[in-house]
Amino acid sequence: MRPFATVVTALCGLVLSSSAIVSADASSTSSKTLLPADFKPPQVFKNVNLVRNTNLEKGYARETVNVVVENVDKQPQSDYYLSFPSDTFDRVGGLEVRNKKEAEKGRFDVEAVEVDLARDVQYFVVHLPEPLAPSSQVTLGISYSLLNSLHPRPATIEQSDRQYLTYSFSAYVPSAYQTVTQKAKLKFPGTNVPDYTTTDLKSGQDPERQGSTYTYGPYNTADVAPGTSYPITVRYEFTKPVVTASLLERDLEVSHWGGNLATEERYWLHNNGSKLSNHFSRVDWTVANYQQSPSSAIRELRYPLKPGSVDPYFIDDIGNVSTSRYRPGLATREANLDFKPRFPIFGGWNYSFRIGWNNELSSFLRRAVSGADSYVLKVPFLEGPKMAEGVQYEKVVVRVILPEGARNVRYQTVEGPLSNGLPGASQIQSSLSTHKTFMDTLGRTTLTLTVESLTDEARDSQLVITYDHSLWDALRKPVAFTAGLLSVFAATWAIANIDVSIKKR
Ligand SMILES: *[C@@H]1O[C@H](CO)[C@@H](O)[C@H](O)[C@H]1NC(C)=O
Ligand SMILES: *[C@@H]1O[C@H](CO)[C@@H](O)[C@H](O)[C@H]1NC(C)=O
Ligand SMILES: *[C@@H]1O[C@H](CO)[C@@H](O)[C@H](O)[C@H]1NC(C)=O
Repeated sequence: MRPFATVVTALCGLVLSSSAIVSADASSTSSKTLLPADFKPPQVFKNVNLVRNTNLEKGYARETVNVVVENVDKQPQSDYYLSFPSDTFDRVGGLEVRNKKEAEKGRFDVEAVEVDLARDVQYFVVHLPEPLAPSSQVTLGISYSLLNSLHPRPATIEQSDRQYLTYSFSAYVPSAYQTVTQKAKLKFPGTNVPDYTTTDLKSGQDPERQGSTYTYGPYNTADVAPGTSYPITVRYEFTKPVVTASLLERDLEVSHWGGNLATEERYWLHNNGSKLSNHFSRVDWTVANYQQSPSSAIRELRYPLKPGSVDPYFIDDIGNVSTSRYRPGLATREANLDFKPRFPIFGGWNYSFRIGWNNELSSFLRRAVSGADSYVLKVPFLEGPKMAEGVQYEKVVVRVILPEGARNVRYQTVEGPLSNGLPGASQIQSSLSTHKTFMDTLGRTTLTLTVESLTDEARDSQLVITYDHSLWDALRKPVAFTAGLLSVFAATWAIANIDVSIKKR
């Protein structure tokens, strides 16, 4: 079939050569400001009060920092530097900064700044929308996840053992500025916290414990030099898998003709939990499973799908996996795909698979009010399993494959009063290309968005894409197909009419 298609496409290329050219030049965005190696943020701010909340209930750490910032300079200032230790910087996911008191006004522009890689501190720069006047204050609400920040200790356990994770951080926030008072609050998944650092940085007990919440500080750190570190390590029970997708490729394919939105996702999963010290025992596993005991292995992935999702499939390296259960939702209720990998995935093990399904396009696409040939597509940026232990994604590549001839492609992510789990636009790389499939003449316009370091916090984030697509674009494929067939018929007819018989002269 392929050679035939190529011939047809080639023939039609001639027929259609006068049509408009798709603006499919690969544009690419990514911003990183370069700073000199000896760069130090100007000391124009001080942190009057800082509270850091660290949530350890999932397989990664999620932090929200609320900090009252004061301009201590004589000039208005608008660039606040947010520093992270170099070994943490690339693992910061879904960073978002807002004015805590006006959260509904949206996020601030945040840019990654590149200084000499050998340095032990790296920065993001937060651009305040309005410069802060001298002696004025603003309360920043900063939220992000720290991927790969939890380590199993012991690193190997027996199959039915409980699993423990460690988390290390500094009691003093690694800020670029002087911080007058600060504290760090940790929320554990439970009350089983066998080991934690105690300090004498303040009078009385440090940390203070209340159920599964431990509070370090408040400390008076006005005289502590910015960037001073005071290491703390905690170790707590987490008998759940530490689910990591080293890569997720997610394709959304829009078909105007079929009225269909096809989604396919390819996962490369890894469990970062404790490894097994002995061989896997199927018998013990069956017993544990029967008793519903908690386990550090991935035994099932629960995947809610949008209402109206149909034809789900789940295929791994070996083939079709039949141990999945699909509960279709009603018209408005979420559907659920619960799928069991072929074997439980213990710490250190990998599992790759792909899943896919279809939806009615009409639930996601509408014509823009502005023009008859403009469309607005609203789709989830990320879906993925929804589980108490969470999922961390080292890299996510979302490809939206639009109809052939789609032009003027623009995208944005939907922002609400709360964090959507995605980083700002400057941390999302985008490119436009064409993707040729069967019978395409020009190739289908494809928007590719790449984000490094993301978590399931971004599960409900929405992506809005607008594009133009005219009737002629819509007809191109059938016209191409018909023209192709006609030329084949004509050729067949011509060949049939060539008289190849050997005639008597
Ligand atoms: C977790 O697994 C991923 C994928 O194999 C790896 O890149 C990462 O470094 C691991 N994290 C830790 C903390 O070991
Ligand atoms: C895969 O399994 C599903 C049931 O889970 C079945 O309906 C489908 O036909 C199978 N597909 C293939 C290609 O075997
Ligand atoms: C798991 O996958 C990662 C890459 O994602 C690879 O580096 C590693 O070797 C794999 N581990 C095993 C045990 O196959």
